[in-house]
Amino acid sequence: MSGTKKSQKNKAGQRERSSRNDNRQGQKTTRAGSGGGVKNGTARGAAGNHKAVERGRIKGPRGMHDVLPQEQKYWEYVVETAKMVLRGWDWQRLDTPLLEETALFTRSIGEDTDIVSKELFETKTRGSGARYSLRPEGTAPVVRAYIEHGMRSWPKPVKLYYVGPFFRYDRPQSGRYRQMHQFGMEVFGSAAAATEAEMMYVANTLFQQLGLEDYTFHINTLGDAADRQEYLKVLKEHLRRNRRKLSRESKERITTNPLRVLDSKDEKDQQVANTAPQLIDHLSEEARDHFDKVLRMLDELEVPYEVKPSVVRGLDYYTGTVWEVVPKSPEGERADLGQQSSLAGGGRYDGLVKRLGGKDTPAVGMAFGIERIIEQIKKEGIELTATDGPQVFVAQLSDRAKLAAMKVMKKLQEAQIRFAESVDRDGMQPQLKLADRLGAKWVVVIGQKEVMDGSVILRNVESGMQEVVSQDNLVEELQKRIDLGSISSL
Ligand code: HAM
Repeated sequence: MSGTKKSQKNKAGQRERSSRNDNRQGQKTTRAGSGGGVKNGTARGAAGNHKAVERGRIKGPRGMHDVLPQEQKYWEYVVETAKMVLRGWDWQRLDTPLLEETALFTRSIGEDTDIVSKELFETKTRGSGARYSLRPEGTAPVVRAYIEHGMRSWPKPVKLYYVGPFFRYDRPQSGRYRQMHQFGMEVFGSAAAATEAEMMYVANTLFQQLGLEDYTFHINTLGDAADRQEYLKVLKEHLRRNRRKLSRESKERITTNPLRVLDSKDEKDQQVANTAPQLIDHLSEEARDHFDKVLRMLDELEVPYEVKPSVVRGLDYYTGTVWEVVPKSPEGERADLGQQSSLAGGGRYDGLVKRLGGKDTPAVGMAFGIERIIEQIKKEGIELTATDGPQVFVAQLSDRAKLAAMKVMKKLQEAQIRFAESVDRDGMQPQLKLADRLGAKWVVVIGQKEVMDGSVILRNVESGMQEVVSQDNLVEELQKRIDLGSISSL
């Protein structure tokens, strides 16, 4: 695992390295997906697309991104750190298909939620016309798999994690994509307050291991089903009384999804939300007790949090404790954007397994937005010490030397020494020029003579000093000279 360090100076160095990579790959770093357009999975603006095809240039889908080579180190860093922490805490990986029957999402996330009513990428199968949707989130598919594979009989609690792409047909903007990536964790079979606290503690550990500091947990409770029914009546009454002050969308939500009015980003809605009765004042003793226990444990575990009644989450399956992890900017601006900037979110969902046809099973889960976490890593100036440039350049000077060079490359790769090469080039000068451009500190040269006597010339690019080393000892000799600390073990 690579280490991290925060430094503005290094950031500049990294930029330099990135631009070198850009040159090497000859790729444009302009964002894909700024044009085109799909609506619920079907092509929109076909005429426009045809024009693009006629011109011979097709753009990537809108709101979906290519992850270019120079970005990969962030992805590896985040995903590998997550896997290491989750495996360490005994979560087991589960992969589910990218498509599920649409009914799975309508029944779990809820018909009136934005995700289901507006954001599904849906398709129909050719034969039966069955409706399938690209998964917009991971919890419903994991619950489906939990029931389908009889995981109820596994030792409890059952702890599952997943990593992969998810799809929401939303208006693309900074931090909000149509294809985004999450890793998530779900626990089945525990009703204990300690399970929520443990999950937030694990998430906090993970953020710490990533080197992040500027974030906090926003926590709330939705109470139990009876509390919520009671509260919804009072809330609807308040919203109806203030109906004319609400945005058009929130007016509609009074009947369909009144809780969502509380986390609306619209200023007028927020004023009405600020004066609304609070769910926390309508909790049963049991629900209040449970929530207090969670908060006390978080205090002990030193997880940074604030209780925020506006956190209601945009999915219908939650019961009890819910939370979001939001960036804390010095100016406090982004933190107030709430859900849109959240790095992660989750909560308890005790009714979902039963709603999807399983036995009554308490459950808790949360998911992390990988793109947003990477954005936060960059924003906090965290430098990944794992470098992605080559440490060595392997140059060769004849057809036979090309074959010897490839055998040397295999040895370097096995020893995890990063190298660059160009078996397509001939002549020393073009190869040395390339080695310099890629920033390799060492060049291994193999010519006719070296092929004959099984040696290589090892040249230090900076000093120009060179020595002859046997091919058998090359790895060892390089390891002595290269700062091994900078070789990523990812
Ligand atoms: P969610 O809050 O919808 O929850 O998504 C979790 C995280 O995914 C968000 O906090 C955010 O970082 C990221 N995310 C969501 N939508 C987008 C988007 N359009 N573009 C970029 N990033 C996005 C869930 O998905 C629940 N399944 C979490 C959960 C697991 N609850 C229980 N278990």
